[in-house]
Amino acid sequence: MDIDLFSPEAIKNPWPYVEQVQAAGPVVYNERIGTWMVTDDQLIRKTLANSDRYKIEGSIAEEVFGPEAFITMDNKARHNALRGIWSVAFQRDSLERLGTLIAGIADEMMDKIEDRFRAGETIDAMAAFGRELPAYVIAHMLGVPDEARPKIVEWSDRIGEGVSEPPNFSRDSNPAWLASEQAKAELADYILGQIEERRRRPGDDLISQIVHSDVGRGLSDHAIMANTRQLLFAGNETTAKWLGHSLVVLAQHPDVRRELVANRGLLPNALEEIMRWEPVVLIIPRLVSGGDAEIAGTRIPEGADISLITAAANRDPLRYEDPNRLNIHREYKANLGFGYGLHSCLGVTLARLEAQVTISRVLDRMPDFVLAGDVDYGAFQLRGPLNVPLALN
Ligand code: HEM
Repeated sequence: MDIDLFSPEAIKNPWPYVEQVQAAGPVVYNERIGTWMVTDDQLIRKTLANSDRYKIEGSIAEEVFGPEAFITMDNKARHNALRGIWSVAFQRDSLERLGTLIAGIADEMMDKIEDRFRAGETIDAMAAFGRELPAYVIAHMLGVPDEARPKIVEWSDRIGEGVSEPPNFSRDSNPAWLASEQAKAELADYILGQIEERRRRPGDDLISQIVHSDVGRGLSDHAIMANTRQLLFAGNETTAKWLGHSLVVLAQHPDVRRELVANRGLLPNALEEIMRWEPVVLIIPRLVSGGDAEIAGTRIPEGADISLITAAANRDPLRYEDPNRLNIHREYKANLGFGYGLHSCLGVTLARLEAQVTISRVLDRMPDFVLAGDVDYGAFQLRGPLNVPLALN
């Protein structure tokens, strides 16, 4: 098979491509992009559960985040020790008071556009709040000063553009990759400065937590930086894109939007359904390690690149009835939008809180919106709207 999942057409509308991949079988080699594609929900869960055989180490993720970030560690003891420093901070109880902060940021951003929207102007929701809101929230959690927030958004965006290439792309001649390397270096310098400051003046923030933890005391500044930087990137681009998808889907499904305006209790489940139906992370990469592997009877050589097509798994008919239909009343079943296994998303509760609070504020303040132009999408792997032009119905 040689489907180009990274072509502009697939980025614009991935679903016909995902269906072709799915139809070709649960495990298929894609010559064009040099990867084994796995599409079945159960097989992907099994693969992600076996982090000894299917490694994130050595994959593109390691190049993006660096080997010292726990998102790229397969050694469970090391991974869990590092992840454990922040686990409590990302639990629901700890995050509860952030709801007020998120609503405040959302309101502040919407104050600037609501009157214009009501006067009939088209508003780009990504520019107005979608892109920046998640960065502002994580910057607050890290204790980063407000004036650095626009720069953090810019660095995250540039890193995001670099990861959006097929597994076999050539790094050195790729402008997006080179720009993302530069952004990573600038962000690293900035975080190293923040670490230095927290050593002198600890605060009530995530950088202080890692610097002054028992595990953190045994880490180099560079390792602390890599673990902090991963939060900025893993949390910003993804949550911004989820907000964008949610607004597009609600604009395209006015019946669903009206239901949610009338009954906000349906919103959490509706957002999970949007994540299933229109996920942000369409592919999770891994490498075969420890000898040749066999997945569903297909032999995959040691060292081969595997692309777990979570987008296909989220529409797997064996797991979801009528999977191509958006149904916010579907009985909840966890989808693979936030990953699975050792590396399942640390920030899932935060992302849900941000999406629920922000979309709820949109439904309060600008309930009657429609799409007022074309939506552009920037990438396949980490996919979401670059712009969401909204106008009053
Ligand atoms: C809609 C928003 C989000 C989506 C769709 C998302 C998706 C994912 C996925 C699919 C993974 C697994 C990656 C893999 O197995 O290779 C992951 C891991 C991770 N995510 Fe998220 N994420 C989101 C928001 C966040 C937020 C807000 C944060 C933190 C601020 C965050 C931090 C992380 C971290 C640190 C990991 C690595 C966990 C580990 O290795 O133990 N994510 N995320």
